[in-house]
Amino acid sequence: MLFDSHCHLNDENLYPRIEEVISSANKTGVKKFLVVGYDKASSFLAVDIANRYEGCYAAIGFHPTEIFGVSEKDYKDTMSLVTNPKVIAIGEIGLDYYWIKDPKQRKEQKEWFIKQIDFANEHHLPISIHNRESTEDCVKILKEHRPLFGGVMHCFSGSVETMNEVIKLGLMIALGGTVTFTNEVVPLDRLLIETDCPYLTPHPHRGEKNEPKYLCLVLEEIARLKDMSKKHLEDVIYKNTCRVFNVDE
Ligand code: NI
Repeated sequence: MLFDSHCHLNDENLYPRIEEVISSANKTGVKKFLVVGYDKASSFLAVDIANRYEGCYAAIGFHPTEIFGVSEKDYKDTMSLVTNPKVIAIGEIGLDYYWIKDPKQRKEQKEWFIKQIDFANEHHLPISIHNRESTEDCVKILKEHRPLFGGVMHCFSGSVETMNEVIKLGLMIALGGTVTFTNEVVPLDRLLIETDCPYLTPHPHRGEKNEPKYLCLVLEEIARLKDMSKKHLEDVIYKNTCRVFNVDE
């Protein structure tokens, strides 16, 4: 069984045909999905999807490019979704210095990241971390504001040194469609997989919209890099994912 640890079935490219997307994923072995929010509307929709579809769970939160101009009321309304038992993580949260260059706005991103880590800690939940070209500050914040209930570096593509720092903080490493040479060294007990669909479509489907049905390609690539049996890898990753998000296997 496969667990897509980071997907956006709440995205406008996938949601209109969500039933077909879920059923074709089910046919390839994907039985569980963490539907990740990135702002108010997408967090509400993630929870709605989790309530309606079997195997779907929700993460709620504000992505670092979506924090600007968000009112305190919208933040509170969104985070009040946390009482829903299908909400199993806070995310995606973090820093994005690829899109955001302005130092004042980067400072705002840091404040929002810290505020949402604190929120996850208060509610005993793991976090799903977005980090793009902001590794130094991201790791610094994670060290100073430890996520006490774990979490995952989503779509990891950093160096081995960064990976080791992240692992020391007790976090998991999620690999997606952009599997790189460092990925074979991720320790088995820290490894998750994800699609981040509709983004990051893996080879040989680049150019198409990504879907959870392609998660098996990520698994195959890692099995090849690690020279391991696909079945064994699949079992380990599925159990890791259930463990970090406190979901029954
Ligand atoms: Ni994402």
